[in-house]
Amino acid sequence: MKYTYYGQSCFLLEAAGTKLLFDPFISQNPLAKAIDITKIEADYILVSHAHGDHIGDLVTLAKQTNAKVIAMVELGDWLESKGVKNVHSMNFGKYTFDFGTVRMVWAAHSAGLPDGSYGGNPAGFVVEIENKQLYFAGDTGLTLEMKLLADLYQLDYAILPIGGNYTMDVEDAIISSDFINCNKVVGVHYNTFPVIEIDTKLAKETFEAKGKTLLLPAIGETIDI
Ligand code: NI
Ligand code: MN
Repeated sequence: MKYTYYGQSCFLLEAAGTKLLFDPFISQNPLAKAIDITKIEADYILVSHAHGDHIGDLVTLAKQTNAKVIAMVELGDWLESKGVKNVHSMNFGKYTFDFGTVRMVWAAHSAGLPDGSYGGNPAGFVVEIENKQLYFAGDTGLTLEMKLLADLYQLDYAILPIGGNYTMDVEDAIISSDFINCNKVVGVHYNTFPVIEIDTKLAKETFEAKGKTLLLPAIGETIDI
């Protein structure tokens, strides 16, 4: 499975012949200037919550790719009001798509659309695809709800926010990886703004000291996971 990082919490997973794009926020991210969004392809776009740094390019890319957008119901309704036609709204539950199964899971955070519309609850996702199980936490603080995932899944990778302030920081993400029983973590939601800047070398060393792996691909880089 291929993972391409586009900055903040935006990434593309390619598996089972399917391209899944998460939380598109690229053109407004100064760190992602080198990414040309007109070249991005997707079959599905999964959106964790209705904050600007997760949906900045959502309407544009949904229309450009005609990907099916998987989002919380209120955010799905908002997208339809913006002329996005291919929307699959869901809530905290699971559904099997042609590529695999998606469970929308709890995130301890908030959500509100940039135009003041109610965005529904924030969420994360567990995606089962190509015999792998991945957890994308979205924006969340550390929460005991994560322990449920260790009962339900044997996660191969967890994509966790590590920048702190709005979400978990590195120390919290390490505790989270214990809660979910997954030692392979890809970090997101760091360095985009001054308040979420981190020491990436120290972050990796802190994970290593606990016998865990923190992957931090560069923006535009593709890695195999
Ligand atoms: Ni947020
Ligand atoms: Mn965010």
